Amino acid sequence: MTLQFGLTQQAPEAAITPCVVVGVYEDRVPSAAATRVDQASGGALARLIESGDLSGKLGTSHLLFALPGVKAARVLVVGLGEQKKFDALRFQRACNEAARVLKGLPLAEAVSYLTELEVPGRDAAWKVRTAALASDAQAYRYTATFKPKDKPKTPEFSTLHFAAPESAAPALAAAGAIAEGVRFARELGNLPPNICTPAYLAAQAQKLAHEHAGVRCEILEEAELRKLGMGALLGVAQGSANPPKLIVLEWRGAAAGEKPYALVGKGITFDTGGISIKPSAGMEEMKFDMCGAAGVLGAFLAAVQLKLKLNLVCVAPAVENMPGGKAQRPSDVVTTMSGQTVEVLNTDAEGRLILCDALTYVQKYTPQAIIDVATLTGACVIALGKHATGLMSKDDALAAELLAAGEATLDRAWRLPLWDDYQSQLETGYADIANIGGKYAGAITAGCFLARFTEGYRWAHLDIAGTAWEEGRKGSATGRPVPLLVQYLMDRAEG
Ligand code: BES
Ligand code: MN
Ligand code: ZN
Repeated sequence: MTLQFGLTQQAPEAAITPCVVVGVYEDRVPSAAATRVDQASGGALARLIESGDLSGKLGTSHLLFALPGVKAARVLVVGLGEQKKFDALRFQRACNEAARVLKGLPLAEAVSYLTELEVPGRDAAWKVRTAALASDAQAYRYTATFKPKDKPKTPEFSTLHFAAPESAAPALAAAGAIAEGVRFARELGNLPPNICTPAYLAAQAQKLAHEHAGVRCEILEEAELRKLGMGALLGVAQGSANPPKLIVLEWRGAAAGEKPYALVGKGITFDTGGISIKPSAGMEEMKFDMCGAAGVLGAFLAAVQLKLKLNLVCVAPAVENMPGGKAQRPSDVVTTMSGQTVEVLNTDAEGRLILCDALTYVQKYTPQAIIDVATLTGACVIALGKHATGLMSKDDALAAELLAAGEATLDRAWRLPLWDDYQSQLETGYADIANIGGKYAGAITAGCFLARFTEGYRWAHLDIAGTAWEEGRKGSATGRPVPLLVQYLMDRAEG
């Protein structure tokens, strides 16, 4: 369950709640809320700041109990770092730290005054939304396939109130919808690939459609994909015993005649590499290779809950890339739905093969913009690391809109060039195009491959290979780029 959120205008020293959260900057600078708590308690905070117990360092926090003159039983003091350096990212980090501590305490609710902090260039609505999303992200925990050893806290943390004017209420409601989209994407990403198969993803999309009015879902089965001529998608699928599904979701939030926005997400439920098999070390992380599909489904869910006044279509090819006896071979030539032929020189470059057919398919809706999302290349992780999503587009305006949505939500992307100069790397003597472009600029040549299937459309590609999940045994899907996508759609929706 997502956290519940509320707003309050109570003063920090007077709030009736098990815990209030206030911030303290480094160099002995309390925030306004901390000052009020300090004054009510006869200088309790000032003494702790003076003694060095409250350093104010970013990423630290201290829990104080039973301060005299303060109604709340607990005061959680969160370090904010240097005041002159305090910005949107540091605000988000402080919110993360507060939520991390709160979820470990035996209390059901708390009131945070962090939303009263001055954040350069951001308003109250932004602060409330960011704080709510950060808190819910901290509260999320994957438990679908095991029973956690630690007993749940009683009571369990479930409601967070923010100090903000009533005018921030719509932002809070929006945050709840976005948080659900993020959770949906994370949960699908985290589920193991023996559970989260193409059929499972398809069933989740159908369930979403049943549960929400105005949503239509269509699942295209293998036979229909064959009729449509999706030879590239089917080539990837043929090595697996789990049949492929093409998930199509439609949301009608505007007049029927209005062209939809289109989201297309890579849904490789497990990527072994196929016959060009991957090394076993780290292969388990390839269960996250459907995070593009999960991301567009999560963004779609949020858009529906926000009842965005636009039409939206979401297409997610769901396929497993396995090296079965019927698997495609390096040097196979497949014919895509677009008619172009592709020489499959590496069966591990499968994402572009399922996406190219999905990108052709979605054009039947004549979308006003197409955005695809994919854990497409290791090269993108080499180029940008784990912090920025790779953005590629030939449309400068669309690229700018997406970059802005990323900055607004701190779910940031960074643009790479999609110049035709790189296209020659995809040439081959055996088909219209090869599916790999050699060792240089791997993220870009993957984008160039997709560009050949989106000509004449406003199209952008988001490579989330680095940003979709955190590495390691306990690494989890992040839900990126759901915040970016939803912000982009909110900015496009009327009224
Ligand atoms: N799913 C992978 C990309 C990937 C790798 C994402 C590592 C995150 C971490 C994709 O299908 C893939 O295997 N790409 C190849 C392309 C290459 C064969 C041209 C890659 O990046 O190595
Ligand atoms: Mn691959
Ligand atoms: Zn892949």
